[in-house]
Amino acid sequence: MIIAGTLLLPDTDSERPGVRLAQGWLRTEGGRIVEVHEGGLPASFDLGGDGHLISPGFIDTHMHLPQFDLIGAHGMSLLDWLDQVTFPNEARWADPDYALTMTERVIDQLLSVGTTSFVGYATVHHEATKRALDCCARRGLRAVVGQVLIDQEAPDSMLRDADECIAETELLLNDWPSHPEQRTPGNRVSTAVTPRFAITCSEGLLKAAGDLAKKHDAYIQTHLAEMLPELEAVAKLHGGPDYTSVYHRAGLLSPRTLLGHCIYLSDNERRLIAETSSVAAHCPTANSFLRSGTMNREQLSGAGITLSLGSDIGGGYERSMVRVARSMIEATLHAQCLAPSASESWWQATAGNADALGWPGTGRIQENAEADLVVIQPDIRWQTAHNPLGMVMFAWDDRWVNATVVNGEVAYSQ
Ligand code: GUN
Ligand code: ZN
Repeated sequence: MIIAGTLLLPDTDSERPGVRLAQGWLRTEGGRIVEVHEGGLPASFDLGGDGHLISPGFIDTHMHLPQFDLIGAHGMSLLDWLDQVTFPNEARWADPDYALTMTERVIDQLLSVGTTSFVGYATVHHEATKRALDCCARRGLRAVVGQVLIDQEAPDSMLRDADECIAETELLLNDWPSHPEQRTPGNRVSTAVTPRFAITCSEGLLKAAGDLAKKHDAYIQTHLAEMLPELEAVAKLHGGPDYTSVYHRAGLLSPRTLLGHCIYLSDNERRLIAETSSVAAHCPTANSFLRSGTMNREQLSGAGITLSLGSDIGGGYERSMVRVARSMIEATLHAQCLAPSASESWWQATAGNADALGWPGTGRIQENAEADLVVIQPDIRWQTAHNPLGMVMFAWDDRWVNATVVNGEVAYSQ
């Protein structure tokens, strides 16, 4: 397949990684980008054309599949929102058929906004998580989906026996390993060890989760330091010296660990996260929607922490990673730190997130990279703007997504 237009190519010359715009075309074959050419458009092509922007597919590093049905429950803070809105909705995934049809629907939504990869939470339900994993593999996405681990401080519908849900996660790890060489060729889906957060996990469950992740060198996803009352509850339940140490003691901090939010951290906690090469997933739309606070990106990256970006749907309210990236720029204003440019922000939502996940061949337009692409057709005068990509980003309209290519196949088109 040949795709032509203004390509968003890796900008490796600038001090901070970003993307640069160049007229040209690319050719895909067998799920890979096999040729990239800068210059004029070819005489014939399959997708794109003059006035089209060709981007790597977007990557969402923190979201909750069952929460797409509760986006927009405004006016509550995190712990009330979990109790009153989130847990009752997630209880529906006790029905695996419901989980499957919902995952199909969520994937349709993701593709329509150009998201081709994600790392997400399912629920405490094993069968439902299996269906979600199967569905992602069938639809060709690159995805990491985990069965949520909870054994305390939650309604009965969410409570699970620790040994049982660890054993279930191990079954998933056998079928959906994190390492590509352990997966069948072409399968781009893995599971993650997913303790929801320290409040809803006993010390024993956290430790078992840490041991299991270590045994399988698996992805780990959890939430950390999202709001102040959460910190107080964690201190009461797990003791000191701080929230991050609770995960560290359990062996849950590793280069494959994604820590959602990371708003309220001490110097010691930032040091622990940096030393273990864990990743802090910035979720700016959720942080503002649930009024949790503002992550200070500069402080975290200054401490040597790798950052990623996530929609955190449904605490976050934007499906589109362009909108989330825009919100990331806005959030730097509130944290009084240096705002990333449009180019850096676009990089974060694509190659930057891929790098944080250890996927060097995803999220970028270059030869041999995976053919996950978005064809965008803005209906504004972006090409002659002072900052074309900045204009595309801030004038963004989801309807501009003309086609989404997943693993070399058109998975969505208007
Ligand atoms: N902390 C624990 N669970 C959740 C969740 O589902 N969403 C958010 N934003 N924070 C959490
Ligand atoms: Zn979350």
